[in-house]
Amino acid sequence: MFQAATYQSRRSRLTQQLQGRGIVLLMGNEESPINYAGNVYRFRQDSNFLYFIGLDQAHLAAVIDLDEGVTTLFGNDLSIEDVVWEGPQPTMLQLAARSGIEKTAPYAALEEVLVKAKTAGRAIHFTPPYRAENKIRMSQWLGIAIDELKSAASEALIKAIVEQRAHKTEEEVAEMELALDITFDMHMSVMLQAEPGLMESDLAGIAEAIAISRGGRPAYGTILSMNGQTLHNPYYTNVLESGRMILGDFGAETGRHYAGDITRSFPVDKTFTPRQRDIYNIVLEAEMKAIEACGPGIRYADVHLLAARVIVEGMKAIGLMKGNTDDAVAQGAHALFFPHGLGHMIGLDVHDMEDLGEQYVGYGDMQRSTQFGTKYLRLARALEPGFVFTVEPGIYFIPELIDLWRSEGKFTDFVNYDKLDDYRQFGGIRIEDNVLITDSGHRVLGPVVPKTVEEIEEIRSSEPE
Ligand code: GLY
Ligand code: MN
Repeated sequence: MFQAATYQSRRSRLTQQLQGRGIVLLMGNEESPINYAGNVYRFRQDSNFLYFIGLDQAHLAAVIDLDEGVTTLFGNDLSIEDVVWEGPQPTMLQLAARSGIEKTAPYAALEEVLVKAKTAGRAIHFTPPYRAENKIRMSQWLGIAIDELKSAASEALIKAIVEQRAHKTEEEVAEMELALDITFDMHMSVMLQAEPGLMESDLAGIAEAIAISRGGRPAYGTILSMNGQTLHNPYYTNVLESGRMILGDFGAETGRHYAGDITRSFPVDKTFTPRQRDIYNIVLEAEMKAIEACGPGIRYADVHLLAARVIVEGMKAIGLMKGNTDDAVAQGAHALFFPHGLGHMIGLDVHDMEDLGEQYVGYGDMQRSTQFGTKYLRLARALEPGFVFTVEPGIYFIPELIDLWRSEGKFTDFVNYDKLDDYRQFGGIRIEDNVLITDSGHRVLGPVVPKTVEEIEEIRSSEPE
């Protein structure tokens, strides 16, 4: 974790933002069983808890009393049985000191504190719970039905947290650069070692091993597949075949839980085919032009549409699309090939703060588009210094979507469906980097994984060490 002063200043800012009324309940996460209670998923602390409290272990909660300006940490000291099985751990008092917290109490005392606050008519601010264990507990303690907890969550707290967490500090950016440093090694190793005959799972294993060996873990479910047209493809069961592309979308989460999220696409062979090169260079141009356009005050929805126009122009140049580019993008024809948003905030979560609601995080006062493709944009609002987000355009050939739109006669003014028959086995290409908005423009974070055709072919032709 960071120094105690970091968490103290975040909490005191939160107290100011909420104008000192009521209490804030911050629920830590519990261990989560896989197939029986004692066999658990790798523990991951709640990100809001990590941000304001920093303590990275299960069965903790905190209450910030806004009127008194005092934080209490709820949790239990270990019994001797716990120590026998899990080893010695810091006491609650020692943990509280690491976070600069004044008071501790046993976990069982939390219910009474909440009931007392409720009876006294004090506001109890909490974020929408997403884990079953916390939903059940909060429902019982607060007397709110489980499926009403989301709507009962505090909008004031959500807005205050988004305001703080969206603006990364220097120490957070340094941690994200570390995540990207590890992520760089993951991508370089995969790109160096891929060859026909290996399994996709061989490469996924190479990537994930590096994240773990550097003190972290994968920041999200690794996507590593020749079937890049499936956007969040979770399978690694194919043998790598000459003539195909590989799409690798994976990154590390550091020991302090900041994420990196990078995508690279490259051929199974040592060189791109002319067709692969053409599509790749369109995506690369869209990515680089989109990054170039990022700066304070620029609406990310506009950057998304810029990337879509570059894609349409490129697809027209190789004969797969036709017609007026602006009309094609306005009507959503590009979404046949680019059906997702250009990017999302990133930080303690790979889709940062998604638990708080995409409207608050990515839209603010803006309305979400209802059009297929553009409506999936997770970040649309004007960019501000300190924002860190992904830029990740792609071109995908999704046979099911092509067939459907073709059968519906959709966008026949813009799409040359006849020419798409040759691309049914192509897969997909996505290129993704992580970008920080500075006072005067932007900075691409981390060591940038090579991404030009020339750079990739050079790596693919070199021998792994
Ligand atoms: N890296 C996966 C995603 O951004 O959704
Ligand atoms: Mn991403």
